[in-house]
Amino acid sequence: MKFFVDTAEIDEIAELHDLGMVDGVTTNPSLILKSGRDILEVTKEICELVPGPVSAEVVATEADAMIAEGRKLAEIASNVTVKLPLTWDGLKACKVLSGEGKMVNVTLCFSANQALLAAKAGATFISPFIGRLDDINLDGMDLIQDIRVIYDNYGFETQILAASIRSANHVLDSARIGADVITAPPKVIKSMVNHPLTDKGLAQFMADWAKTGQDIL
Ligand code: G3P
Repeated sequence: MKFFVDTAEIDEIAELHDLGMVDGVTTNPSLILKSGRDILEVTKEICELVPGPVSAEVVATEADAMIAEGRKLAEIASNVTVKLPLTWDGLKACKVLSGEGKMVNVTLCFSANQALLAAKAGATFISPFIGRLDDINLDGMDLIQDIRVIYDNYGFETQILAASIRSANHVLDSARIGADVITAPPKVIKSMVNHPLTDKGLAQFMADWAKTGQDIL
């Protein structure tokens, strides 16, 4: 399973990248706002740091303008993935940009039928939003499962990029189902290391070691 980091904060990406945890990065207009950075500049910096796919989202809502924005974003670096919303215009732009050989991430996916359309339009990645479905008392994991079955039934190569991941359990469930990629905020990825029995066991080992009076170095 590939790990993408869902942030535009360079320091946070660099920390995880140093550990080999970053296969790619996803951003969106809200994350660009949070970073306080210029989208073109910060996307370039991220692409210089991370060799994997780096999603940068268009903000136009009409297909021709989306295509123009997508082309401009794709000029930043060869690993830019143009992120497009799952609207009819977004699908038109997806067809054109993927036809030009650009990587495309179709985002704001909330149904399996939407994911089916994105795959047929040539999307490289489909981003189903798990957390936002859970927010309205639907089951985001059911959507990941449905898309997995449908894509496997017909051999679609579009990668399932589980997004709006809010917890370590979301990562685990996505991995169990067979999502190709998860994108998560750095704090969620870092929280995966936590286990109370690890903390308890380490405390015991440290206490016993102190009683031996030994040093390793
Ligand atoms: O990858 C999509 C993500 O940024 C949305 O997450 O937590 O705002 O629903 P969230």
